[in-house]
Amino acid sequence: MSDPAFDLLLPFVQDAPADSLWLADENLLGSQLAPRSNIRMIGNRLDLVEAARARGWQADWSDFDLSSIADGSIARVLYRVSKEKALVHHNINQAVRVLKPGGQLILSGDKGEGIKGYLDRTRALFAGQGDTEKASANCWRGLFTKSEQPGTHLDDKDYQQLRPACSDEHFSYWSKPGVFGWDKIDRGSAFLVQQLDSFLAELPAPPKRILDLGCGYGYLSVQASRLGVPITATDNNAAAIAACRQNFATQGIAGEVIPASCGAGIEGPFELILCNPPFHAGFSVEDDLTERFLNAAARLLGRGGIAAFVVNRQIMLERRAASRFRRIQTLAENGSFKLVLLAEAKTGA
Ligand SMILES: C[S@@+](CC[C@H](N)C(=O)[O-])C[C@H]1O[C@@H](n2cnc3c(N)ncnc32)[C@H](O)[C@@H]1O
Repeated sequence: MSDPAFDLLLPFVQDAPADSLWLADENLLGSQLAPRSNIRMIGNRLDLVEAARARGWQADWSDFDLSSIADGSIARVLYRVSKEKALVHHNINQAVRVLKPGGQLILSGDKGEGIKGYLDRTRALFAGQGDTEKASANCWRGLFTKSEQPGTHLDDKDYQQLRPACSDEHFSYWSKPGVFGWDKIDRGSAFLVQQLDSFLAELPAPPKRILDLGCGYGYLSVQASRLGVPITATDNNAAAIAACRQNFATQGIAGEVIPASCGAGIEGPFELILCNPPFHAGFSVEDDLTERFLNAAARLLGRGGIAAFVVNRQIMLERRAASRFRRIQTLAENGSFKLVLLAEAKTGA
């Protein structure tokens, strides 16, 4: 999947000076760019950071924590804006801090993501030292130069701080911007939890271990904690891992929260796998993610266990899962979601 806004950064990657910094989130996609020793990359998605490292990039995985980078030490920051406004503001504020006087921030993005507003606010932060250009119908790029007297920071909603973000009748959940649906309970996940008792009844014995695959801030883990069974929660997003660890600590949940892409490196077996996967209908990149989540579930599911996937009704999960599981059952459906139970993984799938 190509991203024209991402491509706008590329000329500035090619001629980046020494001490450049690239802030990269999921927009990095499957980029095959050759590594550049003068650019350090920071990303919040473990799989993308690992893929960049494997190609030779110097890449760090964090929730865009730039605190170890000294003030005024960076010559150029490259950033294709993220989806979340608080994160974009956080990164722009950090950029102005770490840039040397005369250093440049290159910003690109899409009109629908609010790039024009970001460019205006960044220009004010850089005390007017910037040029912006409309590169195509929807894409804009800005080049800003750090002045001696930067303006007021953008409102980043205290991006880094975990906070009580939402609650239901039993629990309050800690979360933060940068986590999927960070301040609400996802309707698909709530639908899965409504069916929890009915699919637990299908297990031949109570589960000994539970896996929350793609855990976000850990809603499913917190809900499943009433079963009193150790829970392993995993996600590839640094903000999600931080929030989920906080919820494990607050709720006293036994288990661990592991950063991994699609459960890679995690050891099974789990008799219960809960998953609200990150797929949306119709994107080829997401097809690959579907495969990887299904493969992880098949690999990690224990004998007699169940993997419960809640997905958008349009997703043909049952068809995709057929090569990996012998038993596939759509347990429940509503206007938006369906809950699919997968059992009896085929060995070697
Ligand atoms: C639809 S959200 C569900 C989050 C959470 N389980 C909930 O119920 O609120 C999907 C989650 O999958 C995570 N995710 C996306 N790609 C991933 C990958 N390659 N490996 C692991 N997790 C991933 C996202 O960060 C997100 O937290």
